[in-house]
Amino acid sequence: MKTNIQKLEIFFQSMWLDYLALNPDADKIFKLFNPQDNVKNDHIALRTFGLPGIRVEDIAQPLVELGYVEMQSYHFKKKNLRAKHYAHPTMPLIFISELIVESFSIATQSLIKQLVSQIDLSKVSNSDFLYSGRHWNLSTTAYNQLLQESEYAAWVAAFGYRPNHFTVSINDLTQFDGIVAVNDFIKANGFRLNASGGEIKGNADAFLEQSSTMANRIKVEFCDGHLTIPSCFYEFAFRHPLSNGELFKGFVASSADKIFESTNNLVSNENNLERRRPRAA
Ligand code: NI
Repeated sequence: MKTNIQKLEIFFQSMWLDYLALNPDADKIFKLFNPQDNVKNDHIALRTFGLPGIRVEDIAQPLVELGYVEMQSYHFKKKNLRAKHYAHPTMPLIFISELIVESFSIATQSLIKQLVSQIDLSKVSNSDFLYSGRHWNLSTTAYNQLLQESEYAAWVAAFGYRPNHFTVSINDLTQFDGIVAVNDFIKANGFRLNASGGEIKGNADAFLEQSSTMANRIKVEFCDGHLTIPSCFYEFAFRHPLSNGELFKGFVASSADKIFESTNNLVSNENNLERRRPRAA
């Protein structure tokens, strides 16, 4: 009989393998660090649609059963997303967001509901659902229709349930003294960082500094052909101590808002203009 910790270790290892398959850059970056660098994972992020049976709380339930605790809620108004983060005494943080489906046009709402109706909801209660991929048929037309209103909706439709990113904990790295050193190292090795809102999101006053690569672009099969689209990215996080001396263990909404753009399709890496707005429903 496996302990909950053993089950969580298997969960993270399975997530990591699924993630590397979609994000070959992460594998390359991970291997750039020396074994002595002590690369540890700060958090992973998951995405879903905010519909009954697959909301944040539904897909988090198997993790709660293994010892994770719900900590804090977030709202990303412009992107029509809400999120929660979950913590465990010894395992990485887990950040789960969902699309606020009712904020979008009727056509988009029905398209998303039609995708979600193909999920066997009895599978949601197993932690392996979180790296089970796509549960629906999807055409390139449907993908592009979603992309018109939400990069996030199109991403979830194309990839389904799997880690959107893993995050290197800069605090645990032995040979880098901060986020600037890590960013310089990543760029010197030929990888591009998400520059939306500046390469470094957050600051010491917010107790959290984050940066991320732009997502890999990979070939994805649809029922009527294939497209080469952004998949997953790698993130780097440096946490500052609170006045009690303990490291800040939450997230900063304004920074996460920009990190979401690491999977944007039409690259607007040099600016942070809002290029698409959801139509009024
Ligand atoms: Ni993150």
